[in-house]
Amino acid sequence: MKSAIYLLLALSVTQASGQVPQLTETTAQNEQRLQWFRDAKFGLFIHWGPAALSGAEISWGMKDRIERGESLQRVPRDEYMNLYREFNPVNFDADEIMALAKNAGMTYSVFVTKHHDGFSLWKTDQKHFPASSAYPEHYSIADTPYTKDIVKQVRDAALKQDMKVGWYYSTRDWTHPEYLQGDNLAYNDYYENQVEELLSDYGPVDILWFDHCFGAWDQYTIPRLYEKMYAHNPDLLVNNRAARGLSDIPKASAPLKYGDYDTPENRMGSFQAGRAWESCMILSPHTDHGGWSYRPGAVTRSLTETIRLLSSCVTGDGNMLLNIAPLPDGSLRAEERAVLEGLAPWMETHGEAIYATRGGPWINGTWGGATYQGNQVYLHLFEPDEDGIELNRLPQRVLQATTMDGKPVPFQQTAETLKVTVPADLCDEHVTVIRLTLDQVSDGVQYGAALANGQAQAVPGTLVFTAEAAAIHGSAVVRGTGTSAAIVEWAEQSTTISWPLELNSPGTYRVEMDVATPQIDSAIRLSVGNGRGLHVHLPVTGEMDQYQTVQVGELTFANAETLELVLQPYGHLEWLPISIRAIRLIPSN
Ligand code: GLC
Repeated sequence: MKSAIYLLLALSVTQASGQVPQLTETTAQNEQRLQWFRDAKFGLFIHWGPAALSGAEISWGMKDRIERGESLQRVPRDEYMNLYREFNPVNFDADEIMALAKNAGMTYSVFVTKHHDGFSLWKTDQKHFPASSAYPEHYSIADTPYTKDIVKQVRDAALKQDMKVGWYYSTRDWTHPEYLQGDNLAYNDYYENQVEELLSDYGPVDILWFDHCFGAWDQYTIPRLYEKMYAHNPDLLVNNRAARGLSDIPKASAPLKYGDYDTPENRMGSFQAGRAWESCMILSPHTDHGGWSYRPGAVTRSLTETIRLLSSCVTGDGNMLLNIAPLPDGSLRAEERAVLEGLAPWMETHGEAIYATRGGPWINGTWGGATYQGNQVYLHLFEPDEDGIELNRLPQRVLQATTMDGKPVPFQQTAETLKVTVPADLCDEHVTVIRLTLDQVSDGVQYGAALANGQAQAVPGTLVFTAEAAAIHGSAVVRGTGTSAAIVEWAEQSTTISWPLELNSPGTYRVEMDVATPQIDSAIRLSVGNGRGLHVHLPVTGEMDQYQTVQVGELTFANAETLELVLQPYGHLEWLPISIRAIRLIPSN
């Protein structure tokens, strides 16, 4: 009887069909569901497992794996697979780690519950290997000398600190015997059951953080996966890797691939306000590009670099998920602990410029960036000097500029620019944040990067690419003549525009464009060949005929060469057309 009831219950859970918000919700509902994440800004990522014992990169350190080349492969497969036998992290203290994270200003955490190596850090009921295998059936923490459930400890510790809970789960599994075999359905059952365990027995869960798929869409049951997940938690956030990597995704199902937010990996995301994003960053990177898990040769970033990374994310309107890599015994590397401890006082005094803000109104760059909330704008300045920083026009009037502890900072506002000069003794050793109080609420319209206005005088050596000289490959047209000629009606995402580029003087060039962009988040790639180029999120300039000069970045050329300058829409978001009058490359050194 008991088992019949259990069966019924189990069936009702499996069959429960949760409304999948990514397929049904309005923009307003989406914003509401993502609000806490937008406000949260800073999370803790933890990569860990028996792999730490080898000192080789988690999963990638295993030899003879089924994916990608030889780099990082160090440990014979069987040796790697047996590391679990020695995994006894008696010094793992989830409470201590989460308390450190909380003090460091982190508001959520994402823990690796199963990486590509297939080892589960919780006591899963799902069977990974057949009974006849040389490896344990569940291939989980229960099979180690440690035996205690790590995922549960992490969940409890995060909740104790009032932090949101996220599980990283790798769909790709390089050791499961059924993975990508035939229709892959046996594997789908296995991994979806695992995800359900994580969402039910290890909840409440706020984020499911997947890490790519391989194979074809019809080898997976992604809509079923989403339905199950949302039956457990209608508010769940899913990153953009639950179906990423699959071929032949039907158009109607694309929202399941995109999930709720973008995840630039170990690099800063560029400014993007139209859709949430989170850069996951390795705190102790290894020169071989690894360092997600414990690597003896990895070098921990400095506190200043870490704070700048966080500032870059939030001023770009994104979040940062900072990864730590515990040692094999569960304790933290002294250097990583020091960064977490060092963050605490800075976050304490600067949190107001981080949490619950939005990136803007200026697009961020190497100078720093800005965040805003209500009628406060926070400038995050990386290296302010005595010349001050000159920013594009702000429509509101600045009433006051101060440091975070209220010391006045000189500023000058004209119709065209805002100049702020921070005296040396008011600068912060990591990132100097200046609070501007405006006479009205900042409307969040994005303005060009710093120093974008009034390039009246041409710098000698400037290379100009006009609309009239452009080759259009696709559907845009050129209207007008002379300086008012513009490339307009660039409606197709597949259209590219190019110019020959004769580069006679090597060096660094500042790139600026005269553009009209009516909507936020028009993203283009400006490339010059050999993988060099810029990804640019253009600021809104107003209507389609309102042109502004926008600074889009810098390009460095080591040699004189004949190249081609190519513009093309990029990103998976819908292409939001822009008009262009000219692009200039201005020598900056
Ligand atoms: C990649 C790597 C992996 C890491 C992850 C974090 O997909 O395979 O090792 O866990 O990115 O973003």
